[in-house]
Amino acid sequence: MTPDHNNPNRPLEDEPLRHHTYDGIQEYDRRLPNWWLLTFYGSIIFAVGYYACYEWWKALPDQAAVVKKEMARIEAIKLASVSSLSDDNLWAMSNNAQFVAAGKATFLANCASCHKPDLTGNIGPSLVDNVWIHGPQPMQMYATINNGVAAKGMPTWGPVLGTKKITEAAAFILSHHKPNATTKAAEPR
Ligand code: HEC
Repeated sequence: MTPDHNNPNRPLEDEPLRHHTYDGIQEYDRRLPNWWLLTFYGSIIFAVGYYACYEWWKALPDQAAVVKKEMARIEAIKLASVSSLSDDNLWAMSNNAQFVAAGKATFLANCASCHKPDLTGNIGPSLVDNVWIHGPQPMQMYATINNGVAAKGMPTWGPVLGTKKITEAAAFILSHHKPNATTKAAEPR
């Protein structure tokens, strides 16, 4: 009777011996079981598919970006818990992707009508040049947004937006600037 090579329980002695001998050890030429082969070929197919999705089609999230986003989220929680605002922590917020994104949304909804979506200014002055009517320091900007300049047409945002949104909007404006940049006081209008 010819040995049934697909029967995993067949006796070893039915297998042909391979020709090589290492240190006096010989191998039976036994067919690998189907579960083993399936796992092996399956892992090759998975590897190729995974590589293509990750490297070529970018269909999977980039690991470095995931880490960066998560770090920004943790940093934002730390920054949001500061009890009193200062120039320094407003600058820190302006480097935080999450704060800046929230501030951008507030800015586009409430401020862009006068300052333009790209902040270059229209009814209100440009917020991207380094010329400031009310001072270049973060807390000075915060105060202008919070209190407004009624006589000049800048609304009072404190009661409308609250501290958190004003902080975020200020962080968004500051994200277009660098601390210690050379600034200029605007000519009186
Ligand atoms: C109705 C138009 C209008 C809207 C809306 C508006 N602003 Fe203004 N903003 C102005 C005007 C006008 C000034 C200039 C005030 C002055 O001349 O003293 C100004 C000034 C500013 C300044 C000070 C600029 C400087 O040079 O010192 C900041 C900062 C500012 N706005 C931020 C904001 C933010 C943030 C929002 C949204 C929450 C906003 N503005 C919404 C009209 C507007």
